[in-house]
Amino acid sequence: MGEIASRIVLITGGSRGIGRATAYAFAEEGARLVLAHYDPDETAADETLAVLKSRGVEAESHRVDISSYAAAAALIDDIVERFGRVDVLVNNAGITRDKILVRMSEEEWDAVIRVNLKSVFNCTQAVLKPMMKQRAGCIVSISSVVAERGNFGQGNYAASKAGILGFTRSVAREVASRAIRVNAVAPGFIETDMTAVLPEKVKASFIEQIPLGRMGQSEDVANAVYWLCSNKAAYLTGQVIHVNGGLYM
Ligand SMILES: NC(=O)c1ccc[n+]([C@@H]2O[C@H](COP(=O)([O-])OP(=O)(O)OC[C@H]3O[C@@H](n4cnc5c(N)ncnc54)[C@H](O)[C@@H]3O)[C@@H](O)[C@H]2O)c1
Repeated sequence: MGEIASRIVLITGGSRGIGRATAYAFAEEGARLVLAHYDPDETAADETLAVLKSRGVEAESHRVDISSYAAAAALIDDIVERFGRVDVLVNNAGITRDKILVRMSEEEWDAVIRVNLKSVFNCTQAVLKPMMKQRAGCIVSISSVVAERGNFGQGNYAASKAGILGFTRSVAREVASRAIRVNAVAPGFIETDMTAVLPEKVKASFIEQIPLGRMGQSEDVANAVYWLCSNKAAYLTGQVIHVNGGLYM
């Protein structure tokens, strides 16, 4: 399909889960992939890179804490210096520190806001300069169904994910005249490491509420991200695509 072949695509949280599936979706088109992650080690990132390389895709991975303004800027400056451009940013990195609010520590609040929301500011601001020069670019940030519904024990997480929606709509207005599109994808309950830690009882009660009757797969989200970054979605900006099996409608 060529339309995004050889584009430079940066995916944060690209070592595993939804980020990894998104990398595989872009890889099919021959995009050049830069993955950022902050896992304790390189195991998952190396597995992802091995699969990408076996498919003949140019890919690299960097262990960078993108909640640091300076570190995120340095990563993106380096990409622009080496490749001369950046075409797609997928703001996917995220963490949870679940606790009911009366028990939540300041550290748990701050960590989630820094990693899930401040990183989106950090990376988006850094890619906008080259994208504005290019007069082209596509940014997709991963929100969550809990941005709309709220969730018991996730005051910090829901706030970070709702923040992404307001951010997306605001920045979309600011850069539309430069042909840069800014959208969000809000996944429901997806089978990844993030949800693997939930007790079976909690999972079962979630699945009961999903009209399609199952958890989603990372590929379900990746397909929506990929589509948003394709020319098929050329007239979409400032939008939120819900990928949740009907959990929120
Ligand atoms: N799994 C779900 O059900 C679900 C639902 C809604 C939204 N989401 C969101 O989708 C995104 C991906 O989730 P997932 O389930 O694949 O998670 P995951 O835990 O499998 O992977 C998280 C990724 O983020 C990276 N990361 C974490 N902190 C980072 C930091 N400071 N700097 C750089 N990278 C960092 C990790 O290294 C990893 O690559 C997250 O933003 C998450 O909040 C997930």
